[in-house]
Amino acid sequence: MAKPPAGSGLKPVQGPALPSVPDLLLFRKNPQQYVAEQRATFGDISFIAGPGGKIVTPLSPSGCEAVALNRDKAFAAEPAWGFMIGRFFRRGLLLMDFDEHRDHRLVLQQAFTTKNLEGYLQQMQPMIRERVAAFPSGDRVRLLHELKELTLDVALEIFLGLRLPRAEADRINKAFVDCVDAGLAWVRYPLPGTKWSRGVAGRAVLEEFMYEHLPAKRATRTPDLFSALCHLSSDDGRRFSDQDVVDHMIFLLMAAHDTSTITMTTMAYYLAQNTEWQTRARAQSRELPAEIAYDTLPKFTVLDSIMKESLRLNAPVPGLFREAVRDTEIDGYFIPAGTRVSANAIVNHYNPELWSDPFRFDPERFSPERAEDKSHKFAWMPFGGGVHKCIGLYFGQLEIKTVMHNLLLTHEWTVPPGYRWKLDYSTLPVPKDGLPVRLTTLS
Ligand code: HEM
Repeated sequence: MAKPPAGSGLKPVQGPALPSVPDLLLFRKNPQQYVAEQRATFGDISFIAGPGGKIVTPLSPSGCEAVALNRDKAFAAEPAWGFMIGRFFRRGLLLMDFDEHRDHRLVLQQAFTTKNLEGYLQQMQPMIRERVAAFPSGDRVRLLHELKELTLDVALEIFLGLRLPRAEADRINKAFVDCVDAGLAWVRYPLPGTKWSRGVAGRAVLEEFMYEHLPAKRATRTPDLFSALCHLSSDDGRRFSDQDVVDHMIFLLMAAHDTSTITMTTMAYYLAQNTEWQTRARAQSRELPAEIAYDTLPKFTVLDSIMKESLRLNAPVPGLFREAVRDTEIDGYFIPAGTRVSANAIVNHYNPELWSDPFRFDPERFSPERAEDKSHKFAWMPFGGGVHKCIGLYFGQLEIKTVMHNLLLTHEWTVPPGYRWKLDYSTLPVPKDGLPVRLTTLS
């Protein structure tokens, strides 16, 4: 990395001299251990070798905060996220910066008001109730796949106002998966048979699909997000073009889909391992109505702490990726223009200085008495922070709680004693085996 300017008093960021295969494997297999080793060797910040070169990673909460809050506007999201997913999710909100980002976010935010969220909750409940009740029972039900199919269908219904035949929903799902997988591919050229070429084909499928439905959405107002984007306008009357609507829709569907699925799957995993928590959560669900209203959500105190703990242990979005657009610094370390930076949730979520026994599943750490998440503003950062903080965090939480509430009311699930899942960190962190559980329908 470039040396700090003479007399600046800034320190150079250190890291491994050369990318090593064992390091890369450890990063992929056990990122918590990798972070701990980097911290022990290099201190509060270091660089790692990622696809496309070095990525500076703050290893302290204040460093992550500096990147997320970006107080002096030295970091941009588009060049960094764009490098990874730009080919497939271009012109999504996270791929915009500064004034343009603010303008688009102001319009998009109107789709996530409390009134709209109440409407989405009412719309999604019948489908969730019907679909969760019909989950198969058996010894090896792969919950990841069941939950993924369900969240995509909910997203298609709530976002697009469409109920698609299974084959068509599967085709769209595959297109998303191909786009997401392509983002972290090492071969970044559309050679036949590569992840990249499947991603390119996936994007074309998604665009064609959105454009096909766009005229109907422009023509009439319906309660879905697609229609909302077609009719929203900012205070000064600005509206989204057709291309804006399509680009935002594709990004929103992607942003909403895997993240919520991973959170629910993680909750299901820890509840299968810690059945006393499953019993507690079920008891609370039974005290609350099966059909919930928006103001019922805060009453899910047990589910809420389980969700927060699951998001801590397995944050679905591994990093907040940025690129320095001019020379800057993080915690007194020199960051030259052009440096790619990633503030990783795992760095803080497993930091023993912020959390007691950080590898343990312990939802009570979020109780008001213990409030470990308040040990630092960025101790718990699954939704990021600053101007790019997740716009769908309330939508995501209401969907997750609704699905888990229904699952608790209709099913019981366990994993064999001693079962430990293995996560695949090559894209977003998902269990390699799809989390096979013994799922029993409750009478
Ligand atoms: C548990 C579920 C979710 C998690 C953990 C999550 C996480 C995140 C994170 C960490 C970011 C910030 C990335 C960065 O700064 O680099 C983000 C941004 C974003 N999320 Fe989420 N997300 C979730 C659900 C959703 C849902 C349901 C939607 C849409 C309905 C959504 C839409 C977005 C959008 C549009 C952005 C970009 C915001 C901006 O650039 O201003 N997310 N999300």
